[in-house]
Amino acid sequence: MGKNKGLTILFAASEALPFAKTGGLGDVAGGLPRALAEAGCSVAVLLPLYGCIDKNKLQKTASSITVMIGGRPYITTLYKKEVFPGVTHWFLHQPELYYSRPNIYGDQNGDYPDNDARFIFFNRVLAEFPAAANLRPDVVHVNDWHLGLAPLYLKLLPQGHPMRGTPSVFSIHNLAYQGLFPRESYPLTGLPEKYFSDDGVEIWGKINFMKAGILFADAVTAVSPTYAKEILGKELGFGLEKPLNRRKKSLFGILNGIDADEWNPATDKHLPAAYSAKKMAGKVKCREALLKKFSLPDVPGRAVVGIVSRMVEQKGFGLITAAEKELMKLNIALVVLGTGQPKYENELRDIAKKHPGRVGLTIGYDEGLAHLIEAGSDLFLMPSHFEPCGLNQMYSLRYGTVPVVRATGGLADTVVNWQPAGKKGNGFLFKAATPQAFVASVKNALKAFGNKKEWNRIVQNGMAEDHSWRKSAERYLALYRTLV
Ligand code: ADP
Ligand code: GLC
Repeated sequence: MGKNKGLTILFAASEALPFAKTGGLGDVAGGLPRALAEAGCSVAVLLPLYGCIDKNKLQKTASSITVMIGGRPYITTLYKKEVFPGVTHWFLHQPELYYSRPNIYGDQNGDYPDNDARFIFFNRVLAEFPAAANLRPDVVHVNDWHLGLAPLYLKLLPQGHPMRGTPSVFSIHNLAYQGLFPRESYPLTGLPEKYFSDDGVEIWGKINFMKAGILFADAVTAVSPTYAKEILGKELGFGLEKPLNRRKKSLFGILNGIDADEWNPATDKHLPAAYSAKKMAGKVKCREALLKKFSLPDVPGRAVVGIVSRMVEQKGFGLITAAEKELMKLNIALVVLGTGQPKYENELRDIAKKHPGRVGLTIGYDEGLAHLIEAGSDLFLMPSHFEPCGLNQMYSLRYGTVPVVRATGGLADTVVNWQPAGKKGNGFLFKAATPQAFVASVKNALKAFGNKKEWNRIVQNGMAEDHSWRKSAERYLALYRTLV
């Protein structure tokens, strides 16, 4: 602990729990700063003050920052709140760009049309923020495309600027979202013309925020070791494999952790009953409550199979719908919570309609229900086409719910296929992205489910693992130390 004392980290993300979340990035930006603080760091988390955040619960400061974008000044005032000892959240109150809208990225019409200005502002303000907040960060750690330009702005700071020379870490959470904007938006960045090039932020004639983060950060991380390798190839490099290969020596895979307080079946406030590896009775109650919630009968020998996910191509919904017929021949009840592309939402609605009493479906976002599904299910499905890390499989392991996943990214790094001979493994993995391979893996899981002793071993193997942030935070710290 002692050797980290004094290390001050400026951590910035477009979403962070407990204030704003649309996906795993929000979980990570909530959990990692906390674990860094527990390891002795002082962490400032910077995020925009969105309309979904109640500013009356924050402390207004007297500080403000002005940034010029496209020739006009944008003034932001700073709000703050200490949610955890050692972690202070700072909020950029810029009503026009953020606070006046309910959502983070867009509304029913799609992304907000001025997301270029909204995120350019966030990137540009970053270097000016520490002086306004009276901080001196040793490292700046920024996340995903939303903050991809920040490392470049840091590199371009003039002599004498207090943040000049501060090392930056850029974390890739999902390369499928790159922050692409038309050339016409380039003047808003205020960057010299020469950076609109192959050596700079340009690709396919557009500005690419993600590419900037990859090229100009001092270190680049991906959220699992397997994903860090996968993105060097054409299939999962999404067109950025060339810049990624250029930075290969500075690219590290660090597995995400989970918030072990928020996701703890022994203390989970969303559950009707508590349980732990030693006392599993509460899990049976959670299962009953889950079935009741969806008016599904409790049929002997039937496995409850859960899914909590964004309904997008990445998550393998194509496989789920393709495998529907074969899956529903099995003795399972399917419980699904998610929201996303209308195509998948509608397909899931159709499946639910076709199999009354077998499928429970909620289209929407519901934190409490996500916890109940994790607790009340026997199996959890993640047939992802790709998965940079994935958090739900780790929640599942902690909740004694056996994951069935495709061997990709962080899923391959956390789920170990059950081996009855050596009694080793915590779940079920399949490789080929085909309905056949997927269904075969579910069948294997159900076979084990039918053998109480065997199933109990798999469940206990998973529950005995430690996926908390502690180890991963140590890895980030080790990386920070190489940079300062
Ligand atoms: P991604 O960030 O790609 O969506 P992750 O597995 O990293 O995937 O994280 C997703 C997070 O969002 C998890 O905490 C999961 O429980 C949560 N989540 C996803 N969809 C929903 C939903 N419909 N309701 C509640 N929580 C959800
Ligand atoms: C992204 C990825 C997901 C990962 C999360 C947090 O949203 O899709 O796999 O767990 O970021 O890093």
